[in-house]
Amino acid sequence: MPGAPMLRVTGLTKSFSSGPDRVSVLRGVDFSLCPGERVALTGESGSGKSTLLHLIAGLDQPDSGDIRFGDEAVSAMSDAARAAFRRDRLGLVFQQFNLIPSLSVADNLAFQSRLAGRQDNAWHAELIERLGLGHLQKRYPEQLSGGQQQRVAIGRALAVKPLLLLADEPTGNLDEATADEVLALASDLVRRTGCGFLMVTHSDRLAATLDRQVHLRAGLIH
Ligand SMILES: Nc1ncnc2c1ncn2[C@@H]1O[C@H](COP(=O)(O)OP(=O)(O)OP(=O)(O)O)[C@@H](O)[C@H]1O
Ligand SMILES: [Mg+2]
Repeated sequence: MPGAPMLRVTGLTKSFSSGPDRVSVLRGVDFSLCPGERVALTGESGSGKSTLLHLIAGLDQPDSGDIRFGDEAVSAMSDAARAAFRRDRLGLVFQQFNLIPSLSVADNLAFQSRLAGRQDNAWHAELIERLGLGHLQKRYPEQLSGGQQQRVAIGRALAVKPLLLLADEPTGNLDEATADEVLALASDLVRRTGCGFLMVTHSDRLAATLDRQVHLRAGLIH
């Protein structure tokens, strides 16, 4: 991969209390990702994949360690700065689509980029076309299939032209053919924007379609 890593995670640790005990989930994770690189994160259930994604997205704070995007240390930001960074520079896609029920497809797609003040109408139109959402723009989430909703969620995440697209089992609720189609589209659009892509998946088959695979085991990246 060309260029310096855009994301550098070093020595990341995170534990949770479980009754009287503390459980160490991440025990010193080192990981980096270059611009345009598409990486699959695999690991057993409970190995800490979602925890790692949440920390990278600034949705939770590590116990120790460092998360940097270029020169910016997310781990050192104030809560407000971290929230703004997430809104403006990251795209997040989860297994539950988290679309806003009261907004149309077009408004869901534009929502995050409007908040971020980074609305680019030509790019939105391209996303809608590429994601095959043209005829669905005026519909509401409840009027869409799972695969259609997930395409909207991917469009919304990419509408801001993020530095990094973080996806936690984005196709976990979809049948195999739809999952393949949605991931191929997301991959293609990631390539088009040149952003990084980190995707949690339980599927070795889907993981193999990305550029690199990393595995989380015993609190470390292998
Ligand atoms: N907020 C929390 N409080 C307490 N324990 C937590 C919390 N979040 C996660 N954990 C624990 O941390 C461990 C890792 O959880 P995590 O959700 O990161 O796993 P995962 O690899 O994403 O699993 P899955 O593949 O099932 O989604 C689990 O043992 C979980 O119970
Ligand atoms: Mg998880």
